[in-house]
Amino acid sequence: MSAGFGVRSSRFAEENAPRTQESLYDRFAARYADFRLHVFPDDRAEIGAALDLGGARRLAELGCGPGFYAIAYAATFPHLHVTGIDRAPAQVAIARRRAASRGLTNTRFTVADAQALSGCASGSFDRIIASRLLMIVDDPAAAVTRVRPWLSWAWTEATFLDFMSDANANANSVDFSGNAVPRVPRNTITAGLDVGMRAGAYLTSTYQHVTRVPVTFDNSTWVRGYDLLGAKLGVQRTVARRWTIDAFVGGDNLLGNTVYSFLFVGPNYRGLATPPYGGTGDGYIIPAPYSATVYGNLTLRYIL
Ligand SMILES: C[S@@+](CC[C@H](N)C(=O)[O-])C[C@H]1O[C@@H](n2cnc3c(N)ncnc32)[C@H](O)[C@@H]1O
Repeated sequence: MSAGFGVRSSRFAEENAPRTQESLYDRFAARYADFRLHVFPDDRAEIGAALDLGGARRLAELGCGPGFYAIAYAATFPHLHVTGIDRAPAQVAIARRRAASRGLTNTRFTVADAQALSGCASGSFDRIIASRLLMIVDDPAAAVTRVRPWLSWAWTEATFLDFMSDANANANSVDFSGNAVPRVPRNTITAGLDVGMRAGAYLTSTYQHVTRVPVTFDNSTWVRGYDLLGAKLGVQRTVARRWTIDAFVGGDNLLGNTVYSFLFVGPNYRGLATPPYGGTGDGYIIPAPYSATVYGNLTLRYIL
């Protein structure tokens, strides 16, 4: 099984958690390397294309074994700095010998546990490859998972400083100075949660709160704020050699709130326009879908 991940990770020190217990990859190191180099499938083209290695600078291969992919990509892309990581010292030794015999100066092989990289010194990789590793690690979720909450808040103070309804300066002139600028929400708060789970399952969700806005220069009529919740749950994985599946279901406006896409004079749709300062509540709204909408997708991909 091959998998490529374009994610940030940590650079780590050579001395990071070397494993003392001998594994089969140490004991039968040369034999495994022979099989890896001459018998096992070669997915270089697919991985290289999927990760756009021409545009990358730092590549890591987790569980690199004898460095089949790490060395091949280092040779093809001389600008790339390639780090091979394996917890079997004998595999790392073979990888180092292979790189040296090719005269490569852009590779580095190190003994470390791919499941304990989080405690390493900070740094980053553009791309990470884990080929034939996830099916043998004790806890694949510890090797590749992500939980990324995020929050953004836009605060806008938009007030007229000096604004009259006309230039006549008579009894009919209305002074709008100090009023809030129509259609500009003071606060837009957006929060999200991205979760990547084992076996390629993922969840993305977004929650947005937009505060009320005045519709008219005199601020007599306002349109209520709204809350929007959206989420998408899916799975993206290789199901067989060259076959990948991407399936997801999602929903927008899951709270079924009435929201607007544009404010304009029209009917007071679903009572969204409110007259807190004595306005009539006449509508100024073109609503977006006001009930939850759901969608789904199933993509089966064959890579030539
Ligand atoms: C099946 S081999 C795959 C080698 C190479 N990536 C390939 O495509 O052929 C698995 C390799 O992962 C290494 N490995 C297993 N668990 C590991 C871990 N937790 N951290 C780092 N390497 C690990 C083994 O020592 C072995 O060299």
